[in-house]
Amino acid sequence: MFAAEGARVTVTGCNCGAGSKTAEDIREAGGEALFLPMDVTDEEQVLRVREETLARYGRIDILVNNAGIVSDGFLTKLTRQAWDKVIDVNLTGMFNCTRAMVPAMIGQGFGRVINAASVVGIYGNLGQSNYAATKAAIIGLTKVWARELGPKGITVNAVAPGFVVTGMTAGLPEKVLNRVKERTPLGRLGQPREIAYAYLFLVSDEASFVNGAILSVDGGLVL
Ligand SMILES: NC(=O)c1ccc[n+]([C@@H]2O[C@H](COP(=O)([O-])OP(=O)(O)OC[C@H]3O[C@@H](n4cnc5c(N)ncnc54)[C@H](OP(=O)(O)O)[C@@H]3O)[C@@H](O)[C@H]2O)c1
Repeated sequence: MFAAEGARVTVTGCNCGAGSKTAEDIREAGGEALFLPMDVTDEEQVLRVREETLARYGRIDILVNNAGIVSDGFLTKLTRQAWDKVIDVNLTGMFNCTRAMVPAMIGQGFGRVINAASVVGIYGNLGQSNYAATKAAIIGLTKVWARELGPKGITVNAVAPGFVVTGMTAGLPEKVLNRVKERTPLGRLGQPREIAYAYLFLVSDEASFVNGAILSVDGGLVL
């Protein structure tokens, strides 16, 4: 969707097959995209993506901090390894990427940063101590960065999706999904496209005065 709006896109991720295919699909549709492998927990890889993106496009206007994982467990069963893994990817990964890309935006006097939060960071969820901790922290980070970077022409906003049909929710038991649907006034899960529209709005000219916002896109789950 960003490419369709004219953005030149660097697709990143650990899964090279899926990432290359996404970049290829964008190019086939007439857009401009490259795929670069990047684990957000690896600072060297993040810096390499910054350098290669700048070499290719000359600037970085938008950063979408979308990488996120879950590794659930009730508090007394949650291992230290599962705790560390989720904190590393969801939180430290976002710190790594933002710290690396923002200097280019400061140099330009313009930038847009979107952070993937979650309704779970607002109201919590059973078995998700680690995930909820990262998503609540992301809400805090968004507000800090909005204050720090606003004066430099950079807006920082977060989207807090409800339950969306993606790989992340694919393994959830039917019973859990039905309970979520019952609690959602719109009576259904979200589609990835409905989250992407919110991302797109927050980087658009129409959102030029939106900064530090946490936009819930959850069908009314959290009211
Ligand atoms: N689905 C939901 O219901 C929901 C609700 C609220 C918030 N969210 C948030 O939305 C974001 C996207 O999630 P999703 O639902 O699309 O989940 P998903 O289908 O599991 O996708 C997760 C994405 O994160 C990337 N990723 C994971 N670990 C990474 C790492 N170490 N380095 C770089 N990239 C990494 C994956 O890319 P590779 O596989 O290429 O590494 C993949 O693109 C996440 O931040 C998630 O917490 C999702």
